[in-house]
Amino acid sequence: MLGKKILLCVTGGIAVYKAAALTSKLVQAGAEVKVAMTKSACQFVTPLTFQALSRNDVYTDIFEEKQPDKIAHIDLADWADLVLVAPATANMIGKMANGIADDMVTTTILATTAPVWVAPAMNVHMYDHPAVRRNIEILYEYGCRFIEPGEGHLACGYVGKGRLEEPEKITALIADYFDSGTKPLSGKTVLVTAGPTIEKIDPVRYLTNRSSGKMGFAIAEEAAKMGAHVLLVTSVDRLPAPAGVERLKVQSAADMYETVMGLYKQADIVIKSAAVADYAPVHTSDRKLKKQPGPLVLELARTKDILKELGEQPDKPYLVGFAAETDHLEQYALEKLEKKRADMIVANNVSHEGAGFAGDTNIVTIFKRDGAKIELPLLSKHETARRILQEICTTLEMGWAK
Ligand code: PMT
Repeated sequence: MLGKKILLCVTGGIAVYKAAALTSKLVQAGAEVKVAMTKSACQFVTPLTFQALSRNDVYTDIFEEKQPDKIAHIDLADWADLVLVAPATANMIGKMANGIADDMVTTTILATTAPVWVAPAMNVHMYDHPAVRRNIEILYEYGCRFIEPGEGHLACGYVGKGRLEEPEKITALIADYFDSGTKPLSGKTVLVTAGPTIEKIDPVRYLTNRSSGKMGFAIAEEAAKMGAHVLLVTSVDRLPAPAGVERLKVQSAADMYETVMGLYKQADIVIKSAAVADYAPVHTSDRKLKKQPGPLVLELARTKDILKELGEQPDKPYLVGFAAETDHLEQYALEKLEKKRADMIVANNVSHEGAGFAGDTNIVTIFKRDGAKIELPLLSKHETARRILQEICTTLEMGWAK
């Protein structure tokens, strides 16, 4: 991080005290740090603290021009190699998503062409509110990267997700980002889908499948280690998001369709390891369905095939599908490669011990568009993920050293 210029935008929440520690960690790691604060942030910790820790002027007022030959917010926006908003409140995320520029922090963020990273911190219910979720999705679409908040005791008394990620971890992620030039997937965005979809019947019942998300999470983690910017679209929340991976929460196949179709243009590679429902209930009830005499007939309709639709896009990224089969593995995998216009199909026979759902291992065969067939032995899901990514890198000639 030596000499890297980081603009830390501090917004007003209790986690501002952690931003002071973050400033110190970034400076210790060799970065040059400048700090801009909102008025609310100044209510929690004074600018003097950040001035002392960063050894630079702190910017709080859009109208306070320190140098007559410069416009401070433009100068600051152009100066930064990376803009980090930490802690990012729900209010700041909302302003950024809507292009509001009414103070030093928001005008600078709007004026910068540097990568913008956002580390949210707020009450768990605020973080889950649809308005906040929507604003976060908009910012993803604008290319912002998120450092997910951690789980634990929140200052408001709740226990849940909403704590600003620890300063050490944020510093490590930024160091990794600046260091990633030598990694095979550096500069690439990889979108991974993982886990089952959940198709609601009524408030207490749903249709799903045995996927745990382990395969997809392993791919996301290994892709991030190889330097990729990773977007992980998943219904799974019991597995922790791997470091540096941005998780987008979905539930149903329809949700997954909307999210993936909204994001795929940002991705160089899409890996669809999720077990997506092929059918979903036509009607969902807002009330619990009561027992009736006789059998119950549930009407199901086909879901949209996300992989197939991606394959039909003229600007499609490198497309990797999975095939979960119990028989005719090669035949069905090759049919999927063709029908879904994928570049690679990773097939697993889910009836074999050690392969497929839920466990920590898998046995896969990779089928590539150029006709190549690579059979992998029983491996951990992480090693399987590395081999799949290695094959993708080789195909895309990204300089993977074999
Ligand atoms: O999550 P784990 O417990 O670790 O298990 C891993 C796994 C078994 C789920 C994984 O290895 C796997 O095989 N994933 C794909 C499961 C699946 O849905 O396969 P499929 O053959 O039904 O679908 C083929 C491809 O089309 C898949 O890439 C799937 O994501 C995609 N698809 C399917 C239906 C649909 N409506 N849209 C899709 O995009």
